[in-house]
Amino acid sequence: MKLLLATNNAHKKIELSGILVGHEILVPGDIGIEFDCEETGTSFLENSLLKAGSLFALAHAPVIADDSGICVPALNGEPGIFSARYGSVEGHSLEAGERNDYLLGKMRGVRDRRCFFVCCMTLMLDEHRVFSAQETLEGVLLEAPRGKGGFGYDPVVYLEREGKTVAELGAEEKNRLSHRGKAAAALSRILAGTQ
Ligand code: IMP
Repeated sequence: MKLLLATNNAHKKIELSGILVGHEILVPGDIGIEFDCEETGTSFLENSLLKAGSLFALAHAPVIADDSGICVPALNGEPGIFSARYGSVEGHSLEAGERNDYLLGKMRGVRDRRCFFVCCMTLMLDEHRVFSAQETLEGVLLEAPRGKGGFGYDPVVYLEREGKTVAELGAEEKNRLSHRGKAAAALSRILAGTQ
């Protein structure tokens, strides 16, 4: 099935294409749609429903939308749904590396370094057939980034069981373990049952 992904993030397209095997994953730019949805929700679920609904209204075709981020209990759950713009101020948005430095700066001297990624993914087949799955990946924040793979906060999140940061995982390994991979796998099972 052709699935239109409600993102302009090329990394998400690559990750999802590796999980939703047998489906053709397209991003709005691939079919000449300009997509920019304001994330005004107060939860990952609300934002993923907002993104799915607004892309569906433009494309009238099956869409997948995700909203994701990293939550740090020692920072009262920050940055959470604001992960993409964490540390940015009006007129100046931080690059991923700068955002990682900003987060690690906030965590200087903090002993509780637990963190977890969250991904809520919504599949909208039509206005009345909507499925959401939300998953997590738990880790701990390092003192300095490590690894070259992945994107965003991957280099600062260490997975104790794997002995690696998320940025040191192979693509397949990340898909198997990650918040996004597990949410997409749940939707993939739903898709298999709806065709
Ligand atoms: P979204 O595009 O609104 O879902 O923004 C999610 C933001 O959370 C991204 O820009 C990243 O900063 C962060 N994020 C979400 N998932 C991941 C991941 O798998 N690795 C690293 N950072 C992530």
